[in-house]
Amino acid sequence: MLGKAAGLPADQVFLDLEDSVSPLAKVGARANVVAALAGGGWGERTRVVRVNDWTTQWTYGDVIAVVEGAGADLDCVMLPKVQSAEHVVALDLLLTQLEKSLGLEVGRIGIEAQIENARGLVEVDAIAAASPRTETLIFGPADFMASINMRSLVVGEQPVGYDVGDAYHYILMRILMAARTHDLQAIDGPYLQIKDVDGFRRVAGRSAALGFDGKWVLHPGQIDAANEVYSPAQDDYDHAELILDAYDYYTSEVGGMRGAVMLGDEMIDEASRKMALVVAAKGRAAGLLRTSTFQPPKD
Ligand code: GLV
Ligand code: MG
Repeated sequence: MLGKAAGLPADQVFLDLEDSVSPLAKVGARANVVAALAGGGWGERTRVVRVNDWTTQWTYGDVIAVVEGAGADLDCVMLPKVQSAEHVVALDLLLTQLEKSLGLEVGRIGIEAQIENARGLVEVDAIAAASPRTETLIFGPADFMASINMRSLVVGEQPVGYDVGDAYHYILMRILMAARTHDLQAIDGPYLQIKDVDGFRRVAGRSAALGFDGKWVLHPGQIDAANEVYSPAQDDYDHAELILDAYDYYTSEVGGMRGAVMLGDEMIDEASRKMALVVAAKGRAAGLLRTSTFQPPKD
């Protein structure tokens, strides 16, 4: 699996020491993770290790083993089941000591915080603000569903009997608000039915529509769908670039210094530019190429 992961078109790879590793294998797994990171070959992918959460006996040992063994080859530590700002601060302090003692750049290793239970969600603003290392908030649907006693065993799907909307809406929005308030990425968690790519697409589509930046994939078969769902459609990308060019032109001296103008049937202004910037940035990040250009009107 590790060998295969290095060649897949995913933006990030995370190597797990937490829930996919059985308790008896946890300590031994650290060396596998170190070897995989230090062995290189990950290209541009963000390299992340998920350690065990602070309520276990493994967290400090995971962090020390991984950073001592492969700190220079690690971009972020993912901290699961974060329940308070102190959890993030504790990791930040440990990373800082390790970086100092190993001669690594202090503060380079980032933190990805998983929000996976009721307490984590209630504390999400403080968690998001707890450390400048924090880059990402991640929704952990499986643990979350268990934590609130949600009546379903199918992660991401609507619980039976809930027929009036999306049972995850509040959680997703709460995490998204905290992420945007503190300039962090918002990432959706796993979809466990790995053969059901339509199901993956459906669930991913909801968080993508709200503004989430991406979603975990558990299997190579989910990657194309994820890249597609979280990237803008070509038409929307073209339209966003058009709005940006048009707005630049019309607000300039030669374009008449106008702040609100018609672009086709649509009025555009500064708020349109901001919306277009979001879509254009996502399209550029996804490697889309524009298929049309803005033509200033001839006088
Ligand atoms: C992921 O860790 C989850 O609990 O969904
Ligand atoms: Mg979890």
